[in-house]
Amino acid sequence: MSKQGEVVCVTGASGSIGSWVVKLLLARGYTVHGTVRNLKDEKETKHLEALEGADSRLRLFQIDLLDYDSLAAAINGCAGVFHLASPCSVDQVHDPQKELLDPAIKGTLNVLTAAKELGVKRVVVTSSISSMWPCPNWPADKIRTEDCWTDIEYCKQNELWYPISKTLAEKAAWEFSKEKGLDVVVVNPGTVMGPNIPPNLNASMVMLLRLLQACYTDHASNERGKSLFSDIPGSLNLFSVSLVAGCTETYQDFFIGSVHFKDVALAHILVYENTSATGRHMCVEALSHYGDFVAKVAELYPEYNIPSLPRDTQPGLLRAKNGGKKLMDLGLEFIPMEQIIRDAVESLKSA
Ligand SMILES: NC(=O)c1ccc[n+]([C@@H]2O[C@H](COP(=O)([O-])OP(=O)(O)OC[C@H]3O[C@@H](n4cnc5c(N)ncnc54)[C@H](OP(=O)(O)O)[C@@H]3O)[C@@H](O)[C@H]2O)c1
Repeated sequence: MSKQGEVVCVTGASGSIGSWVVKLLLARGYTVHGTVRNLKDEKETKHLEALEGADSRLRLFQIDLLDYDSLAAAINGCAGVFHLASPCSVDQVHDPQKELLDPAIKGTLNVLTAAKELGVKRVVVTSSISSMWPCPNWPADKIRTEDCWTDIEYCKQNELWYPISKTLAEKAAWEFSKEKGLDVVVVNPGTVMGPNIPPNLNASMVMLLRLLQACYTDHASNERGKSLFSDIPGSLNLFSVSLVAGCTETYQDFFIGSVHFKDVALAHILVYENTSATGRHMCVEALSHYGDFVAKVAELYPEYNIPSLPRDTQPGLLRAKNGGKKLMDLGLEFIPMEQIIRDAVESLKSA
């Protein structure tokens, strides 16, 4: 089913997940049109240009999600599109409409319109488990499946703008697909971590950094709270400033399981290549609570003095091993949580 030699577009190529999707597509023989926001910014381009196969099969395009023409130029000549570009933040934002909702929803519609007009055969849209959770009315004795949709009213009441942006963008994609007859398939990743390719960290790697950094104890000087990462140059230092507050955060409305960067990228390629893949695809190594994740980090890295959280941090979430069953049926063997944590922590250390 490999479509070696095909030309495909990856929006948000510069991002943490996008870089992995580009890496695996190049390794499989595809030619990739990757989008970045600023072609002159080496932090967006250099790591992509260094990927194997990039010199002959990667072309970068500068886009803005709200600028249709810039997207059409990147999508022109492509058989498939992987639409990942979308602002991703679980922190408070000043202007949710401008910072999250418009780029997510209008951006998705711009990408799909260009794909339809330019004859693209299949679009893979990167949604999120944030379009499935929080959903407090789901029966407490029933394992979450792809049938679960985020409760927008609950999110509005609690000012959870990121889940709203992902839910409305995914709903807009399904409506567009139905009305215009465009072949769309969706991947819904959980909290994605692992070896980070770009120089900047995405929101989920920052989540882990907060957990480690806020609680690091320097055993030599017995100085609590000292940052292991305080020597990191450039943009990462920005994160050090606000880290302490994240330490005991439970991410109640954001976490329902973790997944490795490589598996999310593979999931995108699997649903693209398998024409039998339809609908939404929950992409987590298991349905688990953030408390389980934190306990595992503490067990693997006792030197970081991780806080002990209650195990049940996601009220109403039943744990399950096969949350990603649809993807497992397509052949994906999920990397377990322990390896996700090891790869992510080692990546942060080596940064
Ligand atoms: N991280 C997770 O745990 C997670 C989980 C589920 C789903 N997702 C989804 O996966 C996708 C990629 O996320 P990520 O974790 O890789 O985050 P990321 O590293 O922040 O990547 C986001 C990408 O989108 C681009 N982008 C954002 N706003 C844009 C705009 N207005 N115009 C053009 N490009 C724009 C970014 O460009 P710049 O580099 O220029 O900012 C970047 O390439 C997003 O759709 C996100 O919602 C992430």
